[in-house]
Amino acid sequence: MAKVKLGIVGLGRLGRNHAANIHYHIPNAELIAICSVVQAELDEVAGEMHPPYTYTDYREMFQNKELDGVVIATNSQSHCDMAIEAARLGVKNIYIEKPLGMTLDEVNRIRDALQGSEVKVFQVGYNRRFDKSYQAMKKKVEEGYIGKPVLIKMINRDPAGVEEFLLKFSPTSGGLVFDMLTHDYDIARWVLGTDATTVYGMGGVYAYEGLAALGDIDNCGILCRFGNGAMGWFEATRNCPYGYHSETEIFGTEGCIRVCVTPTNDRVVYFDKSGVNQSTVQWFYEYWEPTFTAEIQSFVDTIIGAPQVAAGLMDGYKAVEWALAAKKAVDEEITVHL
Ligand code: NAI
Repeated sequence: MAKVKLGIVGLGRLGRNHAANIHYHIPNAELIAICSVVQAELDEVAGEMHPPYTYTDYREMFQNKELDGVVIATNSQSHCDMAIEAARLGVKNIYIEKPLGMTLDEVNRIRDALQGSEVKVFQVGYNRRFDKSYQAMKKKVEEGYIGKPVLIKMINRDPAGVEEFLLKFSPTSGGLVFDMLTHDYDIARWVLGTDATTVYGMGGVYAYEGLAALGDIDNCGILCRFGNGAMGWFEATRNCPYGYHSETEIFGTEGCIRVCVTPTNDRVVYFDKSGVNQSTVQWFYEYWEPTFTAEIQSFVDTIIGAPQVAAGLMDGYKAVEWALAAKKAVDEEITVHL
């Protein structure tokens, strides 16, 4: 069977990995086009993977009729324009990184552009839904293993020592709450099967003084109420001293499920005078690596007819809606009703 022909725009921190996953790890897909405004990134990926088409203008790439679909992995602020242009220029299948847009107006404009377009599959990059442990958690919760859900507690910690990167990244990212926590919220509403109704939070600059001038923070805690009465606790930091850590616990009237209690890098345990040690994961990509391949594999399978299991337009909308409410709650230390 012919391979699904994909193009990618954005070859940075994440896009470079998506390109490699398509090229090396997805047998029924072929990377035929790449686009970036950074010539060095284009040269590097072209030199290694030899796609027949390279572009610096994404509109030109979207007009390539050989493409079955595109992966958009550029800065969050460009997602809205790119999604709209992809739909307008006749791209049939779109995978887009999270967050879908920076405002609800942007997300609504994307929805309007998709209506009446030729777009068949529209997938938003909530890769954590492809984690086998989260899939097991969701299944058990749906089967009633924990009884009535009471509290979902989510920890999201990026490693320390990233101030230089953050000062560059922050202005186009939407800030800590918007950039990092839509992943957690997406998992929470997916596992619980319901949306948040109320959100309250607080946060601040504890580690990277430079963030204050940009109106961003490096730590926060957010409390939510969900439609089924369950509570949610979300905490995020950009300054985790022991590496990368993402952990979830869901507690209910009959039981409790935890995912990734200790973010170990491997299964090696070191015993010495100081005690028992295990090395920890140091970066998000290592921890979630299988999910990044799985989500693009799922995009390809959906293009060729499998039902869509990944996050779609409405999930992208709900995540942005929540993130804006949560950011307001944290910025103003108030309760926001959705
Ligand atoms: P980055 O800054 O490392 O890379 C951005 C890329 O976009 C660069 O290749 C740049 O050349 C390209 N680009 C920007 N404007 C362009 C334009 N007009 N035309 C063509 N190319 C353009 O960004 P990073 O960290 O890779 O993030 C990209 C997106 O991925 C963001 O939306 C971010 O939220 C998301 N992301 C998602 C993660 C996840 O866990 N799902 C993890 C990290 C990032």
